[in-house]
Amino acid sequence: MCNTGLMNPLDIISEYYKPGTSLYDILVKHSELVAKKALMIAENVPHLKPDLDFIKEASMLHDIGIFQTDVRQLGCRGSHPYVVHGYLGRIILEQKGFPRHALTCERHVGAGITTEDIKERKMPLPIRDMLPESIEEKIICFADKFFSKDPDGMKNEKTIEEIVAKLKRYGPGQVERFFEWVKLFQVLGSKPHG
Ligand SMILES: [Fe+2]
Repeated sequence: MCNTGLMNPLDIISEYYKPGTSLYDILVKHSELVAKKALMIAENVPHLKPDLDFIKEASMLHDIGIFQTDVRQLGCRGSHPYVVHGYLGRIILEQKGFPRHALTCERHVGAGITTEDIKERKMPLPIRDMLPESIEEKIICFADKFFSKDPDGMKNEKTIEEIVAKLKRYGPGQVERFFEWVKLFQVLGSKPHG
């Protein structure tokens, strides 16, 4: 099954998250912030012809898998470690018939995850590269790094320095890829707002 044409991300989110719950609010708010940022970034690279409708939809759905992880402070009561949420999201959206959106889920965690990361860190993931490949995947992964889902810190965009400090913990490849995107998207020097 492969759905094409119009889709409403909030309808899909509502199948897995109950509107009115704090988890629904956190997910939707975070996804809207990422979508807005991603669309702004897309404006910087018109020559790469990013698909704006797709960016909007896929940004809204990139974290659909979080409810299956065990992150009690967000209200996620699943059994998987958080790092698996992108892969879990891929499975959900593939089952719904959205394979292109599904890839965005799998490839947005950190600055992407490599086969080596999975092996070295013994991540409970299938062993394959989970790196953003299309321009839309890169934009969404990059935009996502500016926002946490921590209810207190959600509104404030992170600085490049804050993002790098966090990515560093997961290896030098992460920071390298992030800076490639900083250059590509011409966002160096962007300041936090809010
Ligand atoms: Fe996210």
